[in-house]
Amino acid sequence: MIVARTVTELREARAGLAGEVGLVPTMGALHAGHLALLAAARAENDAVVMSLFVNPAQFDDDADLVAYPRDEAQDLRLAAEAGAVLVFAPSAEELYPAGYQTWVDVEDAARGLEGEQRPGHFRGVATVCLKLFNLVRPTRAYLGQKDAQQAVVVRALVRDLAVPLEIRVVPTVRDADGLALSSRNGRLDAGQRTAALALPRALAAGAEAHRDGGDPVAAARAALDGLEPDYVSLLDLDGALLLAAAARVGPTRLLDNVLLEGELP
Ligand code: PAJ
Repeated sequence: MIVARTVTELREARAGLAGEVGLVPTMGALHAGHLALLAAARAENDAVVMSLFVNPAQFDDDADLVAYPRDEAQDLRLAAEAGAVLVFAPSAEELYPAGYQTWVDVEDAARGLEGEQRPGHFRGVATVCLKLFNLVRPTRAYLGQKDAQQAVVVRALVRDLAVPLEIRVVPTVRDADGLALSSRNGRLDAGQRTAALALPRALAAGAEAHRDGGDPVAAARAALDGLEPDYVSLLDLDGALLLAAAARVGPTRLLDNVLLEGELP
């Protein structure tokens, strides 16, 4: 597995890859959710490229950026085991050198939900994703259902700017207790983790209400067991109807969603 640190190294290594290429963009601190994306990429492509870049442009809170978990040695080990042939792990200065001034703003898809809670977040996500797509030129890129609005935003970007690749969305991987895996879960203490489980439970209650012809948002809100949500909302992911919610448990923000209707793109 080649680890490219610069745009030049990445371009050189990319030129050596033949056939269809699957890209898995990540910010590292890999867990089984990321590994599911790598496995999907491996199953559908001749070569898998992973990016590992904690993108400062998408953090609206400096403390969150500083506290973001980092373990590059372990990430590189896991990426190699998962069959990645190339990892792009640039510095912030490499992707945003002095004079950097171009940003991608996706409009409607980035409004509401996370877009409202985290001003500028999706501008940073869309910009870094387009840059990674331009550098890696993958056949397909893989995103997780867990960050469903991110998938909506990136799919809009790809469609609107005619980026020549396919975006695949991979179902959320959960721990045995139902909590969606997240690089931030490690910050939860035992009590917070117990409290956090109300989020997937509430979403499951919402999905059940929807199946029974009821109001999924109201049912989920009623099942939150004291968790104060930032939002509970329906979200359309290119024809798949999702019930999405976010809540803060202690200092940690948790996101989750469930599929109500349709299929993930
Ligand atoms: P990161 O949080 O590292 O997530 C990388 C990818 O893994 C995202 O597509 C995310 O949705 C997916 N993922 C996270 N948890 C998952 C889970 N439990 N099950 C399935 N997939 C999961 O999302 C980002 O990084 C960044 O915004 C990025 C797209 C890399 C742009 O900087």
